Amino acid sequence: MQTFRQLIERLEAKGDLARVSRQVDPKHELTAVMRHMQRGDNKALLFKNVKGTDIPVATNVFGFRSTVAESLGLEEGNLLRTLVALENRRLPVDRVTDAPVQEVVLTGDKIDVARDLPQIVYAEHDAGAYITAGVLIAPHPETGVYNASWNRCQLVGDDKLRVRMMPPQHLGRYHAEAEAKGRNLPCAIVIGAPPGLMFSAASKVPYEVDELEVAGAWQGKPLRVVRCKTIPVDVPADAEIVIEGEVIRDIREEEGPFGEFTDGYVPVMKNHVFRVTAITRRKDAIYHAILAGGTEDLNLVGVPIQTEIYKKVSAFVPRIKDIATPGYVFGCVISIEKQNEDQPKNALLAALGGYSWTKVVVIVDEDVDPFNAADVLWAIQTRCTPDTGVYAIPRVPSYTREDVRDVHRGKIGIDATVPIPLKGLFERRRFPGEGSIRLEDYIDVGH
Ligand SMILES: Cc1cc2nc3c(=O)[nH]c(=O)nc-3n(C[C@H](O)[C@H](O)[C@H](O)COP(=O)(O)O)c2cc1C
Repeated sequence: MQTFRQLIERLEAKGDLARVSRQVDPKHELTAVMRHMQRGDNKALLFKNVKGTDIPVATNVFGFRSTVAESLGLEEGNLLRTLVALENRRLPVDRVTDAPVQEVVLTGDKIDVARDLPQIVYAEHDAGAYITAGVLIAPHPETGVYNASWNRCQLVGDDKLRVRMMPPQHLGRYHAEAEAKGRNLPCAIVIGAPPGLMFSAASKVPYEVDELEVAGAWQGKPLRVVRCKTIPVDVPADAEIVIEGEVIRDIREEEGPFGEFTDGYVPVMKNHVFRVTAITRRKDAIYHAILAGGTEDLNLVGVPIQTEIYKKVSAFVPRIKDIATPGYVFGCVISIEKQNEDQPKNALLAALGGYSWTKVVVIVDEDVDPFNAADVLWAIQTRCTPDTGVYAIPRVPSYTREDVRDVHRGKIGIDATVPIPLKGLFERRRFPGEGSIRLEDYIDVGH
């Protein structure tokens, strides 16, 4: 898939997208509907009639991990293995001059970000409307190597946004280097980006590596790019919307509060200011909105974490069935085909050290579903020996957001695998015929 709309079309063809024609208020109502969907069928939603804008809003397009795999042309069962194998591939971009994303161009006084984009307000105490599904792309001020990352942006009004992009995040480092030379950082915000770019923006791509080239490799075809109208930056030609501008030097303004992915609020902090120089878009552009901490966000954040941990653990354990982050992305569950009693211990150590945020790791046998939190709790309760199978590593930091970092100190590992000599005693029951039964063939009509 090379475009956001191909992903929407695919979801619709599979019955995984629901359309909403009824008018919804972008302040709270749209998010409330999205929350219900994420807690139920978890389909993607396409809101056709959002108050105050002509632009339809798509959300929850990555509600399923399998969609992340499919959008990259990969099988979910082999996702992590294949992502690791593809890690070092790059494809140079394909430069074009005529681009769908520049069918409509707004510049100068014609821009008002509080009017020209959907004004979605998510949580109760949010400071206002935010862009939550913007991929920020910028060339390095010296080397020209492109970085891509997701950063929330507060829609202030006229040509102003506020954005959080602190170092060590790569974009923050790019800005710090531009600022040290007395320059602003030219930067574009891409909404409705090609899936390969959305995924590379969420992944831990090394600082020196060009993420537009990585995006091309993920999608299996060079990324088509076009030069922005007002800044020296190349953007995906087939995106839905691009906001061109600069991150201003030497200015920080209060941004927030914002209800973010840990399900709490990030308090007001001094963050960067983005001055918009143009908005370009397709005539029939679709806006993308992501609920921080919702199923879509947790898949985008989770798959790169699972991949990083896969790399580390596979050095010790050859037979990893899969790695999941059920419930939340500060923990992971690794399902392995254990061959000796040292493997779970090494896997725990590798995983806890393999990703900074990872705070809790559980190792389960191959007959436990790592994606099913209830199955994992079952394994801990029926198979773990707390006397010897729980490891606490004190004081190591995990999530390092300044104001909450002291809560996130220390890591825990749980070995919930059965001792090899007792495997026979722990065989899980199977119920012949269970897989082929359809309840509607048995239950009386009307009950
Ligand atoms: C939907 C979404 C929103 C995100 N929002 C932010 C954000 O507002 N600020 C931030 O620092 N990281 C945010 N992240 C995480 C970064 O985009 C992610 O860590 C990325 O890998 C950083 O890129 P880098 O490795 O080029 O620094 C978000 C991730 C996703 C998937």
